[in-house]
Amino acid sequence: MKRIAILISGGGSNMVALVRSMTGDHPGRPVLVASNDPAAGGLRKAQAAGIATAAVDHRAFGKDRAGFEAELLRHIEAVEPDILCLAGFMRVLTPAFVARFEGRMLNIHPSLLPKYPGLHTHQRAIEAGDAEAGCTVHEVTAVLDDGPILGQARVPVLAGDSADDLAGRVLVQEHRLYPAVLRRYAAGDRTPLFL
Ligand code: GRF
Repeated sequence: MKRIAILISGGGSNMVALVRSMTGDHPGRPVLVASNDPAAGGLRKAQAAGIATAAVDHRAFGKDRAGFEAELLRHIEAVEPDILCLAGFMRVLTPAFVARFEGRMLNIHPSLLPKYPGLHTHQRAIEAGDAEAGCTVHEVTAVLDDGPILGQARVPVLAGDSADDLAGRVLVQEHRLYPAVLRRYAAGDRTPLFL
């Protein structure tokens, strides 16, 4: 059974989808939900699901990114995870942190990578006039939003879509894609999945 730690920054809807999927013959089980924001709504959802949580307020560390990560790492190492899932986690991790988990850390990004790494992905897709948008699960490497792609799901961009309309349509697919990719990945299968 693989021990899965999930990092969040906000509502944690992707975390909830992952947690709900880890039952029965799924090869993974959640062992920790951690956040850089003590007020993250996802922490209460994790607690309601009986999952251990941790919060390390990155603002308390100012520019000391290494200090923040050392404290976060203390909580993460304590549960000895096999796999780390970034799920709506909005802090850029240093290469040192990534190196500790390279090859066993996933992220979900709300675009069809390699298009639109970084922020405001939906607005950028709309402004580019793209017919399609979507989300990507990838292995995390030291280069932001750039690691090997493990899965993608596509949605149409509809005439008149606002960024929020598109974000909502993509989020539905995120909640399908991430659990499906994690199930494979936890079983040792890195074959990319295209929904
Ligand atoms: C989602 O769009 C996700 O792709 C992005 O953060 C947003 C919110 O995620 N990384 P969640 O609801 O906190 O899981």
